[in-house]
Amino acid sequence: MKDSRFNRIYIVGFMGVGKTTLARKLGEHLGKSVIDLDHFIEERKFKTVPQLFTEHGEDGFRIIEQQMLKELSDFDDVIVSTGGGAPCFFDNMEVMNAAGVTVFIDLPPEIIAQRLLKSKTERPLIKGKTETELQDFIAERLNERRPFYGKSEIVVKPTNQTPEEVMHMILEHLKD
Ligand code: S3P
Repeated sequence: MKDSRFNRIYIVGFMGVGKTTLARKLGEHLGKSVIDLDHFIEERKFKTVPQLFTEHGEDGFRIIEQQMLKELSDFDDVIVSTGGGAPCFFDNMEVMNAAGVTVFIDLPPEIIAQRLLKSKTERPLIKGKTETELQDFIAERLNERRPFYGKSEIVVKPTNQTPEEVMHMILEHLKD
């Protein structure tokens, strides 16, 4: 590990790319705590993410998300798995890049669509979408979000690797 910025590693990328699983694997491997930003928000607000979207709208959720992300910049020795939209609002990418190392998991949209269709997690932004609507939504949002994700220090582009293999791809970059 090259320097103290490894104190905090942020995993970013679209919904469904496996950020939480990768954060857990990296945490185990590197002996760091793992924090899922959405879970952190839910514990702090005593509400689920879908409830927060319903009560405050997406704009309100983004404000809470930004506050919680800033709080995490004071945590030590953590791997943070961020929500798919977190990097794309306010100066959140700059906050993460200043506090640690950002890792973008860049999966092709077709694989994201397959994974999201199978996922059991309730996600307000895609709830009730048909397969075609979901594919269109992913293509459009990924296009908008790519410039933000692209500010990450490390980019990994898995295709059909296992989470374990993707973790090793990330570890290779961390050695550079
Ligand atoms: C969102 C992604 C979700 C969650 C919220 C909004 C997004 O997190 O933060 O539903 O805007 O992409 P995951 O990426 O963990 O699903």
